[in-house]
Amino acid sequence: MATTPRPAEVATTIVVFGATGDLAHRKLYPALASLASTGQIPDRLCVVGVARTEMDDAEFERTVIASVAKATGGDQETGAAAFADQGVRFRYLTGSADDSATFQALADLLRGGPDGTHPIGNCLFYLSTAPSLFESIADGLGMAGLAHEDDGFRRFVVEKPFGHDLTSALALTGHLCRWFHERQIFRIDHYLAKETVQNILALRFTNTIFEPLWNRRYVDHVQITVAEDLGVEHRGAFYEHAGALRDIVQNHVMQVLALTAMEPPASFQADAVRDEKVKLLRSVHPLDLDTLERHVVRAQYTAGEVNGVPVPGYREEEGVDPRSHVETYLALRLDVDNWRWAGVPFYIRTGKRLARRVTEVVLRYKAVPFLPLPPSARDTVEPNELVLRIQPDAGIETSFAAKVPGQAFRVRQVRLDFSYAQTFEEAAPEAYERVLHDALVGDATLFIRSDEVEQSWRIVQPLIDGFDQVTLPLTQYPAGSWGPTAAQSLLLAPEDRWRAP
Ligand code: BG6
Repeated sequence: MATTPRPAEVATTIVVFGATGDLAHRKLYPALASLASTGQIPDRLCVVGVARTEMDDAEFERTVIASVAKATGGDQETGAAAFADQGVRFRYLTGSADDSATFQALADLLRGGPDGTHPIGNCLFYLSTAPSLFESIADGLGMAGLAHEDDGFRRFVVEKPFGHDLTSALALTGHLCRWFHERQIFRIDHYLAKETVQNILALRFTNTIFEPLWNRRYVDHVQITVAEDLGVEHRGAFYEHAGALRDIVQNHVMQVLALTAMEPPASFQADAVRDEKVKLLRSVHPLDLDTLERHVVRAQYTAGEVNGVPVPGYREEEGVDPRSHVETYLALRLDVDNWRWAGVPFYIRTGKRLARRVTEVVLRYKAVPFLPLPPSARDTVEPNELVLRIQPDAGIETSFAAKVPGQAFRVRQVRLDFSYAQTFEEAAPEAYERVLHDALVGDATLFIRSDEVEQSWRIVQPLIDGFDQVTLPLTQYPAGSWGPTAAQSLLLAPEDRWRAP
């Protein structure tokens, strides 16, 4: 994983497209301020905001500082001080991302005027915009000569979704690659920036005790859960085009799956890790229309209660079609065709408005081959579990049987529990802080390469086709529950259960 190389010493500019948007204000500027306050930004940094709203440089700076203050619960002066101490400058350009004049004006600004000959230095283009603008921004930058790394780096930072199906994802990659080399494109999946997701690599590959048990000989099955108690919030219209499959499974779940199941990388360098992830994703057995019904459960939440508060059903949410067939819950079974995992099902479930927010990976081990216990003492023995708790209560726990004190030989399941919060004093950087830092220093380990995007879409494309063609049943679950009972039917062995987090 990334060591912390120093940011480059030459002048650096971060150009934020969608500079007035919600994501930039809530996540990006506070992350930048936090990096600034700990001296982790490059010297002579300039932030150039680009958006349609009319404003001048000073007003842009004020809005950035106000959003930092809001996000950190601090006052305006504290927000301002972080940037001022590091000499960060702010510039603003009014313009539309689909107008070539915007990019000419940006080039002029970066070069110091219409006839300017200033070296641009390093430049990070951060797209905090709707995905529909990714291609036109790449074109605009390319045509204005801003993609060439003539006097510093040029990096193009984008956040999911990378396409809405396999074809569009390939087209997007092809389009971006007209102007940028793959090494210049930094695709964010904020799950990779979570400490606990990175800890999957640390746990597996810096210890000897886990890896020998991390395979088909010992593991019965794996469960990956990404459960949210939130609904679609104010993003109903967006979610109608995404559903759980595109919103969570194609990206975050595939990344967690890849890190959990991949082979050991040669190093923690970006391409070594990404090569292994791609190899794993390539091994995921393609689902086909005939098996879809046995491998996939889709559902949508109806009205219910979450944490004691009544909440509406999905179809009653703002921006949602009252007859919508979009899934807010998805459970599926995937098989991995390789020597390590052949025959080990990977069960995946994700949903909105579930009982609680929890993301975890569970390795359920095989039962012992023979139990040297009297029949009356056997039913308290359960298979071992190793649980990687990604959030919210980050940690690792394992369960095993221990003898109950007393004359009789009875056993009971007990747990060993490691908690991040109780063990480490060091604060984990916020995901966007990590992403921004790594993009600035050019460490691509936590960013998604185009072949990973392609493989993830390859895995989910049959589901997209199946949802369109087969009318796979859409069941329901009340908000605040653990999802539809039908999800139980995916588990192969009758005694298997989804883990109750
Ligand atoms: C985003 C999805 O990518 O991830 C959201 O678009 C989801 O719908 C979010 O709520 C979950 O992220 P986290 O970090 O809260 O698990």
